[in-house]
Amino acid sequence: MLELTDVHKHFQQADGAVRVLDGLSTSLAPGRSAALLGESGSGKSTLLHLIAGLDSADSGRIVLDGTDTSAFKDADWAAWRRDKLSLIFQNYHLVPTLTVADNLALQARLAGRFDGDFYDHLVARLGLSDLLKRLPHQLSGGQQQRVAIGRALLHRPALVLADEPTGNLDERSSAAVMALLTELVREAGASLLMVTHSPAMAAHLDERWQLTNGRLETAA
Ligand SMILES: Nc1ncnc2c1ncn2[C@@H]1O[C@H](COP(=O)(O)OP(=O)(O)OP(=O)(O)O)[C@@H](O)[C@H]1O
Ligand SMILES: [Mg+2]
Repeated sequence: MLELTDVHKHFQQADGAVRVLDGLSTSLAPGRSAALLGESGSGKSTLLHLIAGLDSADSGRIVLDGTDTSAFKDADWAAWRRDKLSLIFQNYHLVPTLTVADNLALQARLAGRFDGDFYDHLVARLGLSDLLKRLPHQLSGGQQQRVAIGRALLHRPALVLADEPTGNLDERSSAAVMALLTELVREAGASLLMVTHSPAMAAHLDERWQLTNGRLETAA
């Protein structure tokens, strides 16, 4: 489903070149989930950005759902992100001027894949029924992240990328959001790659990928 082969990425800094990804290869099967672990600055966010086309690799292949994304142009990436991918961030990134209901439906409507039954199901499972008319700033952090999870899944993406999705939440909310995320990702039939610093969060997922010196070690 997701296949990375010999991916290289460096950044030019004032004090020289920083090799971030140095021949990284890995793969993730459909419906599988992996935790991406590694020290601060090891390149975890960079890797997610490359998979999502928010930045480009120096060399190597990134294949998602049978399609090699290396030769994509900006317009290809925009359509690809809308249809195949979801991104969940630490800071939620909801649209501040849209209600909870409209934030939830946004990506599915853009992708032309709004499904009313799945919407009702996600609203109920995420406990958002009484919050649909609110704006994001009228929600707690945990509530905002539950909206972001619903928005990320309603269009049934092939792959969900999450960068420390519970990083701003207390331990109890984190555990609740994590349980919902993994369960609903499974229901949506998506694969999940999630950056986390927490071994407890990583334990919820099928695989653990350790990023060290620009390469990955995988543990079952
Ligand atoms: N746009 C950029 N320009 C220059 N250097 C960058 C850029 N983005 C990241 N880097 C560098 O690349 C390295 C990896 O950064 P990255 O953000 O991927 O780390 P991370 O593993 O996500 O860290 P954290 O756990 O702190 O979020 C760091 O040395 C960082 O300074
Ligand atoms: Mg990061």
